[in-house]
Amino acid sequence: MVVTPKTLFTGQQLVWLPACPSTNSEAQSLIVQNRASEGCTVITDFQTAGRGQRGNQWVAAPAENLMLSVVWQPTFLAATEQFRLSQAVALAVHDWAAALLGPDPKLKVKWPNDLYYGNQKLGGILIENSLSGTKIQYSIIGIGLNINQQAFELPTATSFAQLTGRAYDRAALAARLLESLERRYLQLRAGQVGVLRRDYLQALYRYQEIHPFIIDGQPVRGQIVGVEDDGRLAVAIDNELRRFGLQEIRHG
Ligand code: BTN
Repeated sequence: MVVTPKTLFTGQQLVWLPACPSTNSEAQSLIVQNRASEGCTVITDFQTAGRGQRGNQWVAAPAENLMLSVVWQPTFLAATEQFRLSQAVALAVHDWAAALLGPDPKLKVKWPNDLYYGNQKLGGILIENSLSGTKIQYSIIGIGLNINQQAFELPTATSFAQLTGRAYDRAALAARLLESLERRYLQLRAGQVGVLRRDYLQALYRYQEIHPFIIDGQPVRGQIVGVEDDGRLAVAIDNELRRFGLQEIRHG
């Protein structure tokens, strides 16, 4: 398929594979072979070993969805600033979805970077960074989006086609996504951290609402009050402010 994003570098080098184990792994091997220019993108119709966050698999029906990885070199970011990139990518995906569906308060970023519509997941992001000393050398931005798939095993998953009853041209969507990604990446590179932070909180699922969470297997009720610079979720529980990493809390 032909993808022609109007970008400076993101997706200008692009390969669309019929199938592969994982686009993140394909991108990694291009890096290792020194064949990945900045913005280099791998897209596939089908993954045989797609990876998700928290060690989960990413399973998606063939030729109906978008699965892609973008290679960037955010050498301007310290390793401790990784979450800024995650925030920028989550917002780019959210911007892209809002352009597709029209602005809709049900469209949210679920911490740290899932795309949600209401209480259902439309897509996820897996970022894998390689470091050089204290700096990020390469980032592989893996994105999986449910586009035309009509049935899901999990009731908590949905697709754009399910939401709108339309079928989408995946190549056109990929081009718009790459443009959206580059816009937020350039914002990050220009140091507009405050804007990214503000927009992220504005898009954040269940921000400042009281909801159930699971901590150490135990159900609790809490209110998201912010996100720390290192990406930890700040939650008020029983009048106490606590901070959690990805492995330490999930929405209940
Ligand atoms: C998650 O929600 O857990 C993250 C899912 C990320 C899936 C994408 S699909 C393209 C890229 N290749 C992978 O193996 N994973 C990411």
